[in-house]
Amino acid sequence: MRVLFVDDDEQILRALSRMIDTEIDDWEVDTAISGAEALERLRAGAYDVVVTDMRMPEMDGADLLEIVEREFPGILRVVLSGQADRESVLRAIRPMHQYLAKPCSPEVLIETIRRARIFHDTITSTEVLNAIGQANCIPSLPDVVTEINTELESDRCTSASLAKIVSKDPVLCAKMLQLANSAIFGMRSRIVDVERALSVLGVDLIRSLAISLKVFSGDQKNTADAAARLFQHSFDVAEFARRLARLEKLDSQTANMIFSAGLLHDIGKIVLLNAFGDRYRNIQRQAKDADVPEWQLELLEFGASHSGIGAYLLELWGLPESIIETVAAHHTPEVCIQAGTPSEIVFAANWIAHGGDGQIAETAGAPEASLDAFLNRLQSWRDQIAAEDEQYSEEKEKICV
Ligand SMILES: [Fe+2]
Ligand SMILES: [Fe+2]
Repeated sequence: MRVLFVDDDEQILRALSRMIDTEIDDWEVDTAISGAEALERLRAGAYDVVVTDMRMPEMDGADLLEIVEREFPGILRVVLSGQADRESVLRAIRPMHQYLAKPCSPEVLIETIRRARIFHDTITSTEVLNAIGQANCIPSLPDVVTEINTELESDRCTSASLAKIVSKDPVLCAKMLQLANSAIFGMRSRIVDVERALSVLGVDLIRSLAISLKVFSGDQKNTADAAARLFQHSFDVAEFARRLARLEKLDSQTANMIFSAGLLHDIGKIVLLNAFGDRYRNIQRQAKDADVPEWQLELLEFGASHSGIGAYLLELWGLPESIIETVAAHHTPEVCIQAGTPSEIVFAANWIAHGGDGQIAETAGAPEASLDAFLNRLQSWRDQIAAEDEQYSEEKEKICV
């Protein structure tokens, strides 16, 4: 792996190189004293990771990462910063993948880079790696952005009320979790739910972020419509997953994590849709016509499925492992049929959201005894959800009469 460290302090560059050299044999480390030198090096050679300081004269870390994102989207972009001012942190948030604070121990730096690349080798296509690298630019839906801005203006705005709106956009949720889990906020425990992430970020920062949100433009209508359907599906799966977690009497931390994993389970599809537009919509259409799971055709067309792509993106963004594992496994029968796992619940929620009849064929190859038990659990959950819905509509009718 080839890593480029960028800092205007030569001593720091020497220390970083020494640190990596003594800890690791198979990383090749280069250094650059400025953003301009970093770009020169990047344009001359193939790098996998850029780790940059924020405050540098002429071109700062945020400006550098903007260019790296545009020219070399497949490269992992890490900020390693001392005390950066709020404004430059805000600018770096958009193009960066990970944020680390100085002083940073070799273990943390190495572990962060290693973890961010766990799924990298499972994706062999450069165009898909580039699509994932540019996922920071995926636009939001205009309605969601309007709702966020209106809520932020309201006197009754709370983390809970904002979370309800932000949950309508899985990419935005992932971004909030990425930031809340970054060293910018120095939280000790991993944050797995959106409401908690928003309360860590605070209303002022969310307001600043909301201003910079891009929305789908008018000439992206087909992609925006397909994204809106995917966003709605993601929200439905998250809601079903939370209800199933409640039925299973899971603790609230696990239930919240499962809700987030439900929201993010198909984020890989959003990456594909954003990057490939019509080409990906054709794949979805073909899968529907042939009645095969979309991930099978994604593998043929892109060499990777949306679960692997989603897991790699969330890994790059430094989200909690529990969420990443669940997203990675949501179409893997050997994992999903295991009773009591978050993957089983997200699988079931996805199945119920699709009408609760097809898709079980995906479990072909699983051992028969555990498969029978799994199918029984799925059907029982579907029936319990249907009974709850019925009871709810009866009660609602009584109130309205
Ligand atoms: Fe999926
Ligand atoms: Fe799904």
